[in-house]
Amino acid sequence: MTEIRIGLIGTGGMGKAHATAFHNVPLVFGPEPGRPILEIVADVEAAALEQWAGAFGFARWTTDWRAVVADPAVAVVDITTPNHLHAEMAIAAAQAGKHLYCEKPLATTSADAARIVAAVEQAGVISLVGFNYLRNPAQAFARQLIAAGELGEITLFRGVFDQDFLADPEVPFSWRLDRGLAGTGALGDLGSHTIAFAQVLVGEITEVCGLNATRIHDRVVPAGGSGYAAKAASGAARRAVENEDIAECLVRFANGAVGTIGTSRIGVGRKLALGYEIQGTRGSLVYTQERMNELQLYRHSDPERERGYKTIYIGPEHPGYKAFFGLAGIGLGYNDQKIIEAHALTTAVALGRLVQPDVRFAYQVNKVIDAVDLACQERRWVRVSEFDTAVDQPQ
Ligand SMILES: NC(=O)c1ccc[n+]([C@@H]2O[C@H](COP(=O)([O-])OP(=O)(O)OC[C@H]3O[C@@H](n4cnc5c(N)ncnc54)[C@H](O)[C@@H]3O)[C@@H](O)[C@H]2O)c1
Repeated sequence: MTEIRIGLIGTGGMGKAHATAFHNVPLVFGPEPGRPILEIVADVEAAALEQWAGAFGFARWTTDWRAVVADPAVAVVDITTPNHLHAEMAIAAAQAGKHLYCEKPLATTSADAARIVAAVEQAGVISLVGFNYLRNPAQAFARQLIAAGELGEITLFRGVFDQDFLADPEVPFSWRLDRGLAGTGALGDLGSHTIAFAQVLVGEITEVCGLNATRIHDRVVPAGGSGYAAKAASGAARRAVENEDIAECLVRFANGAVGTIGTSRIGVGRKLALGYEIQGTRGSLVYTQERMNELQLYRHSDPERERGYKTIYIGPEHPGYKAFFGLAGIGLGYNDQKIIEAHALTTAVALGRLVQPDVRFAYQVNKVIDAVDLACQERRWVRVSEFDTAVDQPQ
């Protein structure tokens, strides 16, 4: 058993999810082959951080993220800060020889994501990006079904990710609405997960066109808190929203499939409506994260009088579930996906092997985001290869 010392940067919503996941990896999966140790954590505000570090069992804490990167005990630098900080932190971590665990989107632009890819690959470190929804055993099973030809040739992908956490116009401004700190809006924040589904389940997206809209044009400036926790002071000034609330796009895949990807962060009634319909020549799959323990499968080869979608309940036969429960129907939740993800990372680091989705996969997601954003601005079809960089050249 190898001890893998984690240096976490950021203690917001995702910092909590990552720390919780690392605690649970040995409890759910057992200590082998890699046991995560919560070594050091960084954030910006000392008093809150000291309390947080104690509550989550970190041995040490610091308000200087560079101390985490430079710490000789740390094997994995785990980045859960707002998007604009990922590139600088990830590149510094790779250059210090640390393995990398980074939240999505990898960067605010594909150009910055390419710089991360170059640094990680030059350093030869392992990287994993937090597309945790791919870790649901339902998705591993969907991949198996598609690879086994159960759907035949994929013809259509319709993907969505709608939430309504910004539907109320009185929800205050946060870094997610600042173009410099977040990059795109709903597209990068939510749509990046749908693009990741599309890449894994169907393949490379080559061409896109799109339409986006900002429907709530300004918001009150918060008095405190960050991310979803921001709170507004009464009578506070308002600030212009700098990125889109809604994005809808048409996509073409390298294998000839076509599709749509749509996302809204003001989608009233939608709580975690991340999902897809994948149609093939022999069958179809339908999934929504709001019912994450179910997958709908239609087989066109069924006798005509029995044709229809059936509900598959995710259980121990589906990769990743058995470590939690021996029976189907009990069900996994959001944090369980993070435990599976953290386990994939600690296993990869302990065994010295690469793991997916890595920074190169996430760079491709960033290129699709940039292509859709440009298509929206210029009202034209955009080839994703318009965003190719030096890291796309054969090595
Ligand atoms: N995979 C998912 O399901 C998922 C869900 C939500 C967010 N995210 C991603 O996780 C990242 C963080 O999102 P969040 O919701 O946790 O945000 P958040 O605002 O809740 O937390 C960000 C934390 O980073 C800290 N921070 C800011 N600057 C820092 C610095 N210089 N040094 C150290 N710490 C600093 C903040 O103080 C805060 O505690 C984003 O990239 C976001 O897109 C992923």
